[in-house]
Amino acid sequence: MIGSLAPVIPHIKALHIVMLALWCAGLFALPMMLARHDPAVGQADYARIRKATHYGYIMVVTPAALVAIISGTALVFLREAFVPWMFAKLVFVAVLVAFHAWVGHVLVTVAETEGIHNPPRAWLPSLLLATAILAILTLVLAKPELETIAFPQWLTEPGDSQLPFDVPRR
Ligand code: HEM
Repeated sequence: MIGSLAPVIPHIKALHIVMLALWCAGLFALPMMLARHDPAVGQADYARIRKATHYGYIMVVTPAALVAIISGTALVFLREAFVPWMFAKLVFVAVLVAFHAWVGHVLVTVAETEGIHNPPRAWLPSLLLATAILAILTLVLAKPELETIAFPQWLTEPGDSQLPFDVPRR
């Protein structure tokens, strides 16, 4: 089955890379745009930056994130990448997802909630984001042999625990 799907792998990988580039670029741009949500810029400019941030998040960055994650998940199965570097990569992808959710939260608070809200400065979040992206790129491009890491025994062996409900047998 996977063998017959081999010709589509480069296409899915290309889609994955284009979408994650868009996602990451958006995650850098949005906090900077949010930091410009300052009423002092004037009403017309404020409305323009607010709209661009809102539509950028909803119509570009979030769909790109979804396609990057879906295509990445497909690649895990197609490339049979059930290896420690991939699991380590997923930890950092979780950081990106949390960052994405945080940007959405700030967007709603700053631009769509009554009252005065000071947007956070962009440099610290950008530094955190750059660290996570660099870690992902290092893991996925170097594919380090993390098999040598001594995982605790309880993580590598079945626990023999019973589920709290009956599982139907075939
Ligand atoms: C749930 C999210 C993700 C999953 C499941 C995933 C999974 C994968 C898989 C299985 C591959 C193929 C690896 C191979 O061919 O050996 C891949 C390629 C790649 N991924 Fe992801 N990925 C995800 C998100 C990301 C993110 C957020 C980035 C970067 C910030 C990224 C960067 C890359 C790059 C650069 C490649 C190409 C590597 C190569 O061909 O050597 N991925 N991804």
